[in-house]
Amino acid sequence: MITEAHSESVPVCPFTTLVDARWHPDSVNAPHAPPPGIPASRYHRHAPPHLIMTFDLFDALPADPDTPSATEPLGPGAVVLRGFARDVDSSLLATVDQVGAQAPFRHLITPGGLRMSVAMTNCGEAGWVSDRAGYRYDPVDPDSGVPWPPMPEVFRALAERAAASAGYPGFAPDACLINRYLPGTRLSLHQDRDELDLRAPIVSVSLGLPATFLWGGLRRADKPARIRLAHGDVVVWGGPSRLVFHGIAPLADDDHALTGRTRINLTFRKTR
Ligand code: SIN
Ligand code: FE2
Repeated sequence: MITEAHSESVPVCPFTTLVDARWHPDSVNAPHAPPPGIPASRYHRHAPPHLIMTFDLFDALPADPDTPSATEPLGPGAVVLRGFARDVDSSLLATVDQVGAQAPFRHLITPGGLRMSVAMTNCGEAGWVSDRAGYRYDPVDPDSGVPWPPMPEVFRALAERAAASAGYPGFAPDACLINRYLPGTRLSLHQDRDELDLRAPIVSVSLGLPATFLWGGLRRADKPARIRLAHGDVVVWGGPSRLVFHGIAPLADDDHALTGRTRINLTFRKTR
Protein backbone atom coordinates (compact mmCIF):
# COMPACT_ATOMS: atom_id res chain seq x y z
CA MET A 1 0.00 0.00 0.00
CA ILE A 2 2.80 2.43 0.70
CA THR A 3 4.79 3.69 -2.23
CA GLU A 4 6.15 7.09 -3.06
CA ALA A 5 3.41 9.24 -4.55
CA HIS A 6 4.25 11.56 -7.40
CA SER A 7 4.29 15.04 -5.97
CA GLU A 8 4.85 17.22 -9.02
CA SER A 9 2.05 19.33 -10.41
CA VAL A 10 0.41 17.76 -13.45
CA PRO A 11 -1.25 19.92 -16.11
CA VAL A 12 -4.40 18.11 -17.10
CA CYS A 13 -6.94 18.16 -19.90
CA PRO A 14 -10.46 17.22 -18.80
CA PHE A 15 -11.33 15.27 -21.91
CA THR A 16 -8.27 13.09 -21.88
CA THR A 17 -7.80 12.59 -18.16
CA LEU A 18 -11.35 13.64 -17.28
CA VAL A 19 -10.56 16.18 -14.62
CA ASP A 20 -12.89 19.03 -13.60
CA ALA A 21 -13.86 20.75 -16.86
CA ARG A 22 -14.38 24.07 -15.10
CA TRP A 23 -10.64 24.55 -14.70
CA HIS A 24 -9.79 23.99 -18.33
CA PRO A 25 -9.12 27.08 -20.47
CA ASP A 26 -10.95 25.53 -23.42
CA SER A 27 -13.95 24.40 -21.46
CA VAL A 28 -16.25 27.16 -22.73
CA ASN A 29 -16.28 25.15 -25.94
CA ALA A 30 -16.26 21.77 -24.29
CA PRO A 31 -19.22 19.54 -25.08
CA HIS A 32 -21.66 18.64 -22.34
CA ALA A 33 -22.05 15.17 -23.82
CA PRO A 34 -20.49 12.48 -21.65
CA PRO A 35 -16.91 11.48 -22.44
CA PRO A 36 -16.34 7.99 -23.91
CA GLY A 37 -17.16 5.25 -21.43
CA ILE A 38 -19.44 7.41 -19.26
CA PRO A 39 -23.15 6.62 -19.73
CA ALA A 40 -25.26 9.74 -20.20
CA SER A 41 -27.23 8.78 -17.09
CA ARG A 42 -24.07 9.22 -15.00
CA TYR A 43 -22.98 12.51 -16.52
CA HIS A 44 -25.10 15.43 -15.49
CA ARG A 45 -25.03 18.47 -13.30
CA HIS A 46 -27.50 18.73 -10.45
CA ALA A 47 -28.48 22.23 -11.47
CA PRO A 48 -31.46 23.82 -13.21
CA PRO A 49 -30.88 24.70 -16.90
CA HIS A 50 -30.45 28.43 -16.30
CA LEU A 51 -27.63 27.71 -13.88
CA ILE A 52 -25.97 25.30 -16.28
CA MET A 53 -25.88 28.05 -18.92
CA THR A 54 -24.59 30.63 -16.44
CA PHE A 55 -21.98 28.10 -15.42
CA ASP A 56 -20.57 28.08 -18.96
CA LEU A 57 -20.21 31.86 -18.97
CA PHE A 58 -18.08 31.72 -15.84
CA ASP A 59 -16.07 28.65 -16.71
CA ALA A 60 -12.80 30.29 -15.81
CA LEU A 61 -13.88 31.00 -12.24
CA PRO A 62 -13.44 28.57 -9.34
CA ALA A 63 -16.61 26.85 -8.14
CA ASP A 64 -18.76 28.88 -5.80
CA PRO A 65 -19.25 26.80 -2.65
CA ASP A 66 -22.93 27.78 -2.68
CA THR A 67 -23.72 26.50 -6.19
CA PRO A 68 -25.72 23.28 -6.49
CA SER A 69 -23.68 20.08 -6.40
CA ALA A 70 -22.43 18.67 -9.69
CA THR A 71 -21.33 15.31 -10.98
CA GLU A 72 -17.93 15.34 -12.63
CA PRO A 73 -16.46 12.37 -14.47
CA LEU A 74 -13.05 11.13 -13.35
CA GLY A 75 -12.79 8.14 -15.65
CA PRO A 76 -14.93 5.19 -16.76
CA GLY A 77 -17.06 4.22 -13.78
CA ALA A 78 -15.58 6.99 -11.58
CA VAL A 79 -17.09 10.36 -10.63
CA VAL A 80 -16.76 13.21 -8.17
CA LEU A 81 -20.10 14.26 -6.62
CA ARG A 82 -19.39 17.83 -5.60
CA GLY A 83 -20.83 18.82 -2.22
CA PHE A 84 -22.91 15.65 -2.05
CA ALA A 85 -22.40 15.06 1.70
CA ARG A 86 -22.87 18.66 2.81
CA ASP A 87 -26.46 18.26 3.92
CA VAL A 88 -25.37 15.73 6.57
CA ASP A 89 -21.89 17.09 7.37
CA SER A 90 -22.45 17.94 11.04
CA SER A 91 -24.10 14.65 11.72
CA LEU A 92 -21.27 12.75 9.97
CA LEU A 93 -18.64 14.59 12.00
CA ALA A 94 -20.45 14.03 15.31
CA THR A 95 -20.67 10.35 14.41
CA VAL A 96 -16.95 10.20 13.59
CA ASP A 97 -16.31 11.49 17.12
CA GLN A 98 -18.52 8.76 18.56
CA VAL A 99 -16.75 6.03 16.58
CA GLY A 100 -13.38 7.48 17.61
CA ALA A 101 -14.40 7.37 21.27
CA GLN A 102 -15.06 3.64 20.99
CA ALA A 103 -12.27 2.71 18.59
CA PRO A 104 -9.59 5.42 18.89
CA PHE A 105 -7.67 6.66 15.84
CA ARG A 106 -4.24 5.08 15.55
CA HIS A 107 -1.25 5.13 13.23
CA LEU A 108 -0.97 1.68 11.69
CA ILE A 109 2.35 0.07 10.84
CA THR A 110 2.91 -1.10 7.26
CA PRO A 111 4.16 -4.61 6.56
CA GLY A 112 7.51 -2.95 5.82
CA GLY A 113 7.60 -1.46 9.33
CA LEU A 114 6.73 2.17 8.50
CA ARG A 115 4.31 4.16 10.64
CA MET A 116 1.52 5.58 8.48
CA SER A 117 1.09 9.35 8.77
CA VAL A 118 -2.70 9.02 8.39
CA ALA A 119 -4.51 8.11 11.62
CA MET A 120 -7.20 5.47 11.07
CA THR A 121 -10.16 3.79 12.69
CA ASN A 122 -13.10 1.77 11.35
CA CYS A 123 -16.73 0.94 11.81
CA GLY A 124 -18.86 -1.80 10.33
CA GLU A 125 -18.58 -5.56 10.28
CA ALA A 126 -14.91 -5.43 9.37
CA GLY A 127 -12.12 -2.90 9.65
CA TRP A 128 -9.05 -2.39 7.48
CA VAL A 129 -5.86 -2.97 9.43
CA SER A 130 -2.17 -3.21 8.68
CA ASP A 131 0.74 -4.56 10.69
CA ARG A 132 3.97 -6.48 10.13
CA ALA A 133 1.87 -9.47 9.06
CA GLY A 134 0.21 -7.59 6.17
CA TYR A 135 -3.01 -5.79 5.24
CA ARG A 136 -6.39 -7.33 5.94
CA TYR A 137 -9.97 -6.79 7.03
CA ASP A 138 -10.49 -7.80 10.64
CA PRO A 139 -13.90 -8.11 12.36
CA VAL A 140 -12.18 -7.19 15.62
CA ASP A 141 -10.24 -4.05 16.55
CA PRO A 142 -6.77 -5.46 17.30
CA ASP A 143 -6.12 -2.66 19.82
CA SER A 144 -9.10 -3.54 22.03
CA GLY A 145 -9.94 -7.11 21.06
CA VAL A 146 -13.62 -6.23 20.56
CA PRO A 147 -15.62 -5.80 17.33
CA TRP A 148 -15.50 -2.44 15.57
CA PRO A 149 -18.44 -0.10 16.30
CA PRO A 150 -21.40 -0.91 14.02
CA MET A 151 -21.91 1.08 10.84
CA PRO A 152 -24.00 4.15 11.80
CA GLU A 153 -27.17 4.58 9.77
CA VAL A 154 -26.22 8.12 8.67
CA PHE A 155 -23.01 6.66 7.16
CA ARG A 156 -24.70 3.73 5.45
CA ALA A 157 -27.50 5.83 4.00
CA LEU A 158 -25.13 8.45 2.58
CA ALA A 159 -22.89 5.80 1.00
CA GLU A 160 -25.85 4.07 -0.61
CA ARG A 161 -27.27 7.36 -1.91
CA ALA A 162 -23.90 8.47 -3.34
CA ALA A 163 -23.26 5.11 -5.01
CA ALA A 164 -26.73 5.15 -6.59
CA SER A 165 -26.13 8.70 -7.85
CA ALA A 166 -22.90 7.51 -9.46
CA GLY A 167 -24.63 4.59 -11.20
CA TYR A 168 -24.15 1.84 -8.61
CA PRO A 169 -27.59 1.14 -7.13
CA GLY A 170 -27.88 -1.27 -4.21
CA PHE A 171 -24.42 -0.61 -2.75
CA ALA A 172 -24.30 -2.32 0.66
CA PRO A 173 -21.02 -1.46 2.39
CA ASP A 174 -19.96 -3.65 5.30
CA ALA A 175 -16.92 -1.57 6.25
CA CYS A 176 -16.04 2.09 6.64
CA LEU A 177 -12.41 3.10 7.06
CA ILE A 178 -12.09 6.54 8.66
CA ASN A 179 -8.90 8.44 7.83
CA ARG A 180 -7.76 11.50 9.76
CA TYR A 181 -5.26 13.89 8.15
CA LEU A 182 -3.42 16.74 9.86
CA PRO A 183 -1.31 19.29 7.94
CA GLY A 184 1.54 17.43 6.23
CA THR A 185 -0.21 14.05 6.31
CA ARG A 186 -0.20 12.17 3.02
CA LEU A 187 -1.41 8.86 1.66
CA SER A 188 0.87 7.38 -0.94
CA LEU A 189 -0.40 5.93 -4.22
CA HIS A 190 -2.11 2.59 -3.70
CA GLN A 191 -4.94 0.40 -4.94
CA ASP A 192 -7.88 -0.65 -2.77
CA ARG A 193 -7.60 -4.37 -3.45
CA ASP A 194 -8.08 -6.15 -0.15
CA GLU A 195 -11.84 -6.48 -0.74
CA LEU A 196 -13.09 -9.85 -1.97
CA ASP A 197 -15.88 -8.39 -4.09
CA LEU A 198 -14.34 -6.03 -6.61
CA ARG A 199 -17.69 -5.55 -8.39
CA ALA A 200 -18.77 -3.12 -5.67
CA PRO A 201 -17.46 0.45 -5.91
CA ILE A 202 -15.52 2.46 -3.34
CA VAL A 203 -17.37 5.50 -1.96
CA SER A 204 -15.07 8.13 -0.45
CA VAL A 205 -16.35 11.17 1.50
CA SER A 206 -14.22 14.25 2.20
CA LEU A 207 -14.86 16.44 5.25
CA GLY A 208 -13.02 19.43 6.66
CA LEU A 209 -9.82 20.78 5.11
CA PRO A 210 -9.50 20.43 1.32
CA ALA A 211 -7.04 17.94 -0.13
CA THR A 212 -5.37 17.13 -3.41
CA PHE A 213 -6.54 13.70 -4.55
CA LEU A 214 -4.05 11.88 -6.75
CA TRP A 215 -5.90 9.89 -9.40
CA GLY A 216 -3.59 7.67 -11.40
CA GLY A 217 -4.17 4.73 -13.69
CA LEU A 218 -4.23 0.97 -13.52
CA ARG A 219 -0.43 0.84 -13.50
CA ARG A 220 1.52 2.19 -10.57
CA ALA A 221 3.74 4.18 -12.92
CA ASP A 222 0.80 6.06 -14.51
CA LYS A 223 1.18 9.72 -13.69
CA PRO A 224 -1.70 10.83 -11.45
CA ALA A 225 -4.01 13.75 -12.13
CA ARG A 226 -4.44 16.13 -9.19
CA ILE A 227 -8.02 16.82 -8.16
CA ARG A 228 -9.04 19.16 -5.38
CA LEU A 229 -11.48 17.58 -2.96
CA ALA A 230 -13.34 19.97 -0.68
CA HIS A 231 -15.62 19.56 2.31
CA GLY A 232 -18.65 17.48 1.34
CA ASP A 233 -17.25 16.12 -1.94
CA VAL A 234 -17.78 12.41 -2.55
CA VAL A 235 -15.73 10.33 -4.99
CA VAL A 236 -17.14 7.03 -6.26
CA TRP A 237 -15.02 4.63 -8.30
CA GLY A 238 -15.87 1.18 -9.56
CA GLY A 239 -16.16 -0.93 -12.71
CA PRO A 240 -13.15 -0.35 -15.00
CA SER A 241 -11.72 2.17 -12.50
CA ARG A 242 -12.08 -0.01 -9.42
CA LEU A 243 -8.35 -0.77 -9.19
CA VAL A 244 -7.03 2.68 -10.17
CA PHE A 245 -4.03 3.82 -8.12
CA HIS A 246 -4.90 6.80 -5.93
CA GLY A 247 -3.59 8.76 -2.96
CA ILE A 248 -3.56 12.10 -1.15
CA ALA A 249 -0.81 14.74 -1.50
CA PRO A 250 0.56 16.21 1.75
CA LEU A 251 -2.27 18.17 3.37
CA ALA A 252 -1.88 21.95 3.30
CA ASP A 253 -2.29 23.73 6.62
CA ASP A 254 -5.47 25.73 7.05
CA ASP A 255 -8.38 26.12 9.43
CA HIS A 256 -11.82 24.71 8.65
CA ALA A 257 -14.93 26.00 10.39
CA LEU A 258 -16.13 22.50 11.35
CA THR A 259 -12.90 20.51 11.78
CA GLY A 260 -10.12 23.01 12.49
CA ARG A 261 -6.74 21.88 11.11
CA THR A 262 -8.04 18.46 10.13
CA ARG A 263 -9.36 16.55 7.16
CA ILE A 264 -11.57 13.51 7.70
CA ASN A 265 -12.16 10.94 4.98
CA LEU A 266 -14.66 8.10 5.09
CA THR A 267 -14.22 5.25 2.61
CA PHE A 268 -17.01 2.76 2.31
CA ARG A 269 -16.24 -0.69 1.03
CA LYS A 270 -17.93 -4.01 0.48
CA THR A 271 -15.29 -6.39 1.69
CA ARG A 272 -17.02 -9.75 1.12
C1 SIN B 1 -8.15 6.13 0.71
O1 SIN B 1 -7.62 5.97 -0.38
O2 SIN B 1 -8.43 5.17 1.43
C2 SIN B 1 -8.49 7.51 1.21
C3 SIN B 1 -8.52 8.57 0.18
C4 SIN B 1 -8.83 9.92 0.79
O3 SIN B 1 -8.44 10.20 1.92
O4 SIN B 1 -9.49 10.72 0.12
FE1 FE2 C 1 -7.66 3.93 -1.03
